[in-house]
Order: sequence, then C-alpha cells, then structure tokens
Amino acid sequence: MAAPNVLVTGGAGYIGSHAVKALAAAGHDVWVFDNLSAGHAEAVGRLQAAFPERRITLVEGDITDAIAITQALRASSAAAVMHFAARLSVDESMREPAAYYRTNVIGTLTVLEALAASGVRHFVFSSTAATFGEPLHTPIDETHPQLPINPYGQTKLVVEQALAHLERATRLTSVVFRYFNAAGADPAGLIGEDHTPEDHLIPRAILAALGGEPLQIFGADYPTPDGTCLRDFVHVSDLADAHVLGLRRLLAGGASGAYNLGMGDGVSVREVVDTVARIAGRPVPHVTAPRRAGDPSRLVASSQKARTELGWAPSRGSLDTIVRTAWQWHTRHPHGYRTRA
Ligand code: UFG
Repeated sequence: MAAPNVLVTGGAGYIGSHAVKALAAAGHDVWVFDNLSAGHAEAVGRLQAAFPERRITLVEGDITDAIAITQALRASSAAAVMHFAARLSVDESMREPAAYYRTNVIGTLTVLEALAASGVRHFVFSSTAATFGEPLHTPIDETHPQLPINPYGQTKLVVEQALAHLERATRLTSVVFRYFNAAGADPAGLIGEDHTPEDHLIPRAILAALGGEPLQIFGADYPTPDGTCLRDFVHVSDLADAHVLGLRRLLAGGASGAYNLGMGDGVSVREVVDTVARIAGRPVPHVTAPRRAGDPSRLVASSQKARTELGWAPSRGSLDTIVRTAWQWHTRHPHGYRTRA
C-alpha cells in the first residue's frame, strides 16, 4: 500500500524540514504548510529536488488562518498532520507571552479544528522539555510532573492537555514528542539550522569560532560539576526518525502516547564549547555572563519509553556527530539558506 500523504505545519523550519526529509525517504508525499516567518522556502525546494519521485508541496499560510489550513488539508488528502509550526524561544516568551498563546495555543487549536472538519484522525505534536520546568528528578521520564516555568512551556502543555480532551470527544489519536535539545544538521548537508536571531548554544558557539560575536556563557555558578548548565543534545535527524515511527504507530491504529526524546546524557555548556573548539580546530572566543532568565540548571531525558514502544534507535546522537554535522552546515552556509553556491 502506498504511504499516505502527510501535512506538515512548520515544515520549512529547522526540525520540521528534517521531518519532511524523513517522510519523503519513507515514501510519503508531503504538504508543507508554513508562513515562512522563520522557515525557508529554500529548504522545501532542496528537499523536492533531492526526492524527485515524491511530491513535496509548499503552501504559504498561517496556522491561525482557519480557512487556509482547512483548504490545505483538503487539497492534500492527508491522513495525518505533523504540527511543528510554533514560536519557540523561552526568552522571547517571557517578554511576549500573548504572542506565544496566540500562535502556540490558538494556532494549534485552529489546526485541530481543521482536522476535525476534514475528518483527519491522526496528529503528531512537537512539544518540549520546557513543559517539565525545574526538574524534580533526573533523568526526566514521562511520569515527571509537568510544571512549566515559562510561557513557552505552558503553551505547549495546554495543547498536550487539550489533546487528551479532544481524543475523548472525537476519535483523534496523537503522538506527543517532548524534545530536549535539538541540534546538529542533516548529515548529507542538504538542510540545517537557520534561525534569526540565533539563540541556541551550538550554532552560537560555531558562529563565535567563525569570527562572529564571542559566545556568552549564561551562568557559571549553577550547582553542576563545572558550574554551567547541563543539557541533553539529540540529533535533529534522530528526532525526525521518531516522528516517522510515531506516525506509523497512529496509522496502524495504535494508541496515543507522549514521549520524551533525548539521549540521556547531561552535557555541560563548557563541554559543548570544548567540543566545538576541537572539531573546528580553532578556539571559541567566549565570556562568562549572568544566568539567562528561565533556564533550568539541568535537563536530561529518559527516552526508554520511545525506545521500547516505538522502536526508536537514535544513531547520530554522540556530541561529536552533532557538532560535526552542525559545523559542516554552518561552514558551507555562512549566511544560512541565503548562501549562494
Ligand atoms: N547558552 C549559553 N549561551 C548562549 C546560548 C545558550 O550559555 O549563547 C546556554 C543556555 O543558558 C543553556 C544552554 O546553553 O544553559 C542551552 O541553551 P539553548 O538556548 O541552546 O537551549 P535551551 O536549553 O534553552 O532550549 C531548549 C529548546 C527549547 C526548550 C528548552 C527547554 O531550544 O525549545 O530547551 O528548556 F524550551
């Protein structure tokens, strides 16, 4: 049987585009619905060129636009939706909470209503480790209480809770993925990370090594072995694979579920800086700066449930592989997708 069509909101963005690649590789035709506020049409174009036997269609639209998303869903004949479109900066969410509620809550509910109106019964949702807040135990498994400490995490949690209610009221089944620190780039070099502004640690360290602003290390006085925060970095292509596995489960009639996705290793900010310097073969100029508001001291996942229930077997998760693929992307695309060959 042919793999059914999938509509991917935010499919022109960082994690979404890697999921589109994984879907195309698994034989699906994909409709990307993206307002291109942070995503890149170029990413979709590159994917279509790399998979000529698949149809990868870009529809420019906003998830708060009920008519646009309903039309795209109907035109796509999608059997499922993967929903990546969101605002995603913890820091920005502290300053502009209303914008986060509008996009991440109202936008997502608009998408979910369009699913119901179009008879689409399967939904894969991008959630976040930020729904857990300050960890009460480590590693964080799916039984950990969800007590977000910033609006970003709160808006994602609201949707997780809404999904449980929607399932009871309709026949919608969903898989929720809570990412820890997504990082790295497509090992084949086709797509990668291109945020403006760039807030994330690994790209910032790489840009500093390439002669940009020195990296600021936000806080060296945390109760951790070297005083800097601990994070659990997971390769974006491994995250993408989890989405395909989650989709398969739903399409096969499997039950809804929520899964934490990380490697289970706590890596410190300083270790990341050292790894980038080693792989780049040059220093990462850096300064110690005050703590950043809203940062938990350590975030480390247990992903045993995803491994057991979905058969997720991340293969690119070493910090070296993550940094190497990110370094390859940033050195070949110093201006992101605007880089001309
Ligand atoms: N950091 C620095 N300097 C920088 C950037 C980051 O020291 O220039 C530090 C941060 O303080 C943090 C660590 O590096 O300790 C990782 O920061 P990132 O911004 O790369 O990632 P976060 O852990 O803040 O964010 C990730 C996801 C969010 C998610 C969050 C959960 O990107 O979507 O985890 O808290 F919400």
